[in-house]
Amino acid sequence: MAKRILITGHLGYIGSVMVPYFLEAGYEVHGADTGFFEPCLLTPARAALGGPRVDLRDGLTPRDLEGFDAVIHLAALSNDPIGNLNERWTREINGGATVRLAAMAREAGVERFLFSSSCIMYGAVGDPTHAVEETAPLDPRTQYARSKVDAERALSPLATERFSPVYLRNGTVYGLSPRMRFDTVLNSLAGSAVAGGAVRVFSDGKPWRPVVHVEDVCAAFRAALEAPREAVHNEAFNVGAGFVNVQIGALARSVAESSGARLDVLAQPEADQRTYRTSFSKIRARLPGFQARWTPQEGAARLVEELQALRLRREQFAEARFTRLHWLNKLLGEGALGEDLRWTAGCRAARSTRPAETGEVMA
Ligand SMILES: NC(=O)c1ccc[n+]([C@@H]2O[C@H](COP(=O)([O-])OP(=O)(O)OC[C@H]3O[C@@H](n4cnc5c(N)ncnc54)[C@H](O)[C@@H]3O)[C@@H](O)[C@H]2O)c1
Repeated sequence: MAKRILITGHLGYIGSVMVPYFLEAGYEVHGADTGFFEPCLLTPARAALGGPRVDLRDGLTPRDLEGFDAVIHLAALSNDPIGNLNERWTREINGGATVRLAAMAREAGVERFLFSSSCIMYGAVGDPTHAVEETAPLDPRTQYARSKVDAERALSPLATERFSPVYLRNGTVYGLSPRMRFDTVLNSLAGSAVAGGAVRVFSDGKPWRPVVHVEDVCAAFRAALEAPREAVHNEAFNVGAGFVNVQIGALARSVAESSGARLDVLAQPEADQRTYRTSFSKIRARLPGFQARWTPQEGAARLVEELQALRLRREQFAEARFTRLHWLNKLLGEGALGEDLRWTAGCRAARSTRPAETGEVMA
């Protein structure tokens, strides 16, 4: 079993849950992240990790990767709005930096490379009676989606007898994380219900989406790490179980019922009507160690409870810190990030003298 692992993007939404998950499972975990969202904490960080702040477009060398059994690659610009802000950044970080990291990992003798991919690459399938399998034609409609397709395609030829890339295609992820995001569908519905007393659905509520709990994402990555090589080598997996496919309207009703918030279905014609259901037969067959635990209804009720316990306020819900695009725009506007989306010199100096919030080593 892989024991010493490197998690990139460990200071993001999923990473901030995944690090303690693997530590509790007995792994030696290291992190690599440039720290765009490091101070964006809704709750205290749950684990302190060693590891420098690095930009994966040019940071790290094969030597830094020696001795790891596996790399879990979460670091990315992680949604469509950021992809649309500047396509080059998304191409370079989600594509170029991913391939560079995988090539270095292979050179360093790392045997498994788990890539955090996305079901967004299936496009707007449109036929909700049909659940999309991993072999379905890919139809990326945005720069973000294209970057995930391009990365998977570029990683595949790197596969060898001793190096196994694995592509874990997540649906929309939800659930409480110390570095919370309110810019994904269920987190946004639950946040607006608790903080504002209303759940608003802009479409007619009929579109289907797979929504997967962040803890189930962690469990799927662990199963892919611990599976025999032949089960996962150079393979793509949709991450979830049949019950995570849900209509947006039903999801919003669950949130409204568990929070007591008002439900408004606005049915705006220009709203996002993309609809697709995902098949999870392959992960069930190949990774029997993985069982998704959270139905969207139970997961929504739990998230509502957690946000109520935190007494999430309207101003907090609306803070730039919890919407990836707004936070990056803020850093760009303040000059902390330059036009290549790297920390500017003054900001790097200030960061290196400030103690790390999570007790981690600053580069
Ligand atoms: N959250 C979702 O709903 C979802 C769904 C499908 C796939 N994914 C994928 O899962 C991964 C993690 O998602 P998340 O929601 O935690 O995103 P996130 O935006 O919260 O975290 C991404 C992390 O990557 C880091 N990063 C970005 N560019 C970097 C660079 N050049 N060098 C080093 N670090 C860099 C950021 O600092 C951040 O900590 C991403 O690859 C994302 O595309 C997420």
